[in-house]
Amino acid sequence: MHGSLPRPMSFSARGPLRGTVVVPGDKSISHRSLMFSALAVGESRIEGLLEGEDVLATAAAMRAMGADVQRGEDGTWRVHGVGVGGLLQPQAALDMGNSGTSTRLLMGLVSSHPITCTFTGDASLSGRPMGRVIEPLSRMGAEITASPGGRLPLMLRGICPAVPIEYTLPVASAQVKSAVLLAGLNTPGITRVIEPVPTRDHSERMLTGFGAELSVEDSPRGKIISIRGEAELKPQHIVVPGDPSSAGFWMVAASIVPGSEITIANVCMNPTRTGLIAALRLMGADISEASPRIVGGEPVADLIVKHAPLKAIQVPPELAPSMIDEYPILFVAAAMAEGCTIARGAHELRVKESDRIAVMAEALAAVGVSVEEYEDGLAIQGSGGASIAGGARVASKLDHRIAMSMAVAGLVAKAPVEIDDVAPIATSYPNFLPTLDALTQ
Ligand code: S3P
Repeated sequence: MHGSLPRPMSFSARGPLRGTVVVPGDKSISHRSLMFSALAVGESRIEGLLEGEDVLATAAAMRAMGADVQRGEDGTWRVHGVGVGGLLQPQAALDMGNSGTSTRLLMGLVSSHPITCTFTGDASLSGRPMGRVIEPLSRMGAEITASPGGRLPLMLRGICPAVPIEYTLPVASAQVKSAVLLAGLNTPGITRVIEPVPTRDHSERMLTGFGAELSVEDSPRGKIISIRGEAELKPQHIVVPGDPSSAGFWMVAASIVPGSEITIANVCMNPTRTGLIAALRLMGADISEASPRIVGGEPVADLIVKHAPLKAIQVPPELAPSMIDEYPILFVAAAMAEGCTIARGAHELRVKESDRIAVMAEALAAVGVSVEEYEDGLAIQGSGGASIAGGARVASKLDHRIAMSMAVAGLVAKAPVEIDDVAPIATSYPNFLPTLDALTQ
């Protein structure tokens, strides 16, 4: 993981962003590609895997549970899976680092295997709520002993056979949905998740690709996702598309730095992930799409982004699930827009890698932006395109997306923005800093 030494760094105004950037593989799809390959019998190949710390934590966990996971010299990953039902008892605690996705999805997988695992994580992950997965997985028969407040470290004793359930999601969370579906993979009968508000659907797409019997129906109660258990997964060749969440930093940077024009190649355009593009377009951003295509069962396009004057909006709350990881960088765009942007209905931001409402409110206020905090969002007074003050040190709080968002804020600040620790960036975007240099040369 990214070690204990904080790495402070300052970000100042630079010239316009120019050129082409290829963002790294999608984090959600990368996690799933390793997990599902580890459950298929035979060799799967994965191209374009995100080699960030979060995904490497998943790779290490799958190895610890018996899968053969190797990175080839050409960057292609090869995974020999153990088969659904074949996960082995790990010899030591599974260290999930900073990764909520690894933790919650693997808790699901382990729940229907006859093994016991201890899950640990860093200070950020150890503060995040696991009750949302403990509840349905306990109903399926897993025995989970968590730290106070339903937190990590926790011990999970899986059960085989587990009991299939029908579960209506109380929070809009792809991680909770996926945890139950993954537990359902090795559970006899049909496990059902009802999703009143759609969230990212990578698990459904990829499990279908691996040959699981999975159906999705619309109903008045929401989407009903059913999976037949004791599934047999067939090995696949996966090409991971670029991460729209990582692309978001460049979309906003190019939109707010005058004179910028960039191409962001190979961005996953799954409609459950494109809320930031929709919100930025409402603000007047100049983002166009080229070469739409399908990669690894996901829609993909190249995005051309040019600087444009932005105006404030009321961010439609129904966009929240499709841009949940993008609010910190949207707040930076709002700080440069004309007028007061109001983003509400995003309460989930309080339980991400940090409390992203409080942490962004504090960081933006420190660099001279006028912000009002609500329980479920922020109101941000924009500068109308004028530089923000900067000249302050802000805390990234073990949150990669706070660090990257405030680095982008530094590009439009009069005085440098110092971030106390940029090391967390390596969890999702190890090449972010060299890419920033390359785009602003
Ligand atoms: C993810 C789902 C989202 C997102 C996270 C990745 C996933 O979390 O914030 O970064 O891969 O399923 P929630 O399920 O908690 O909304």
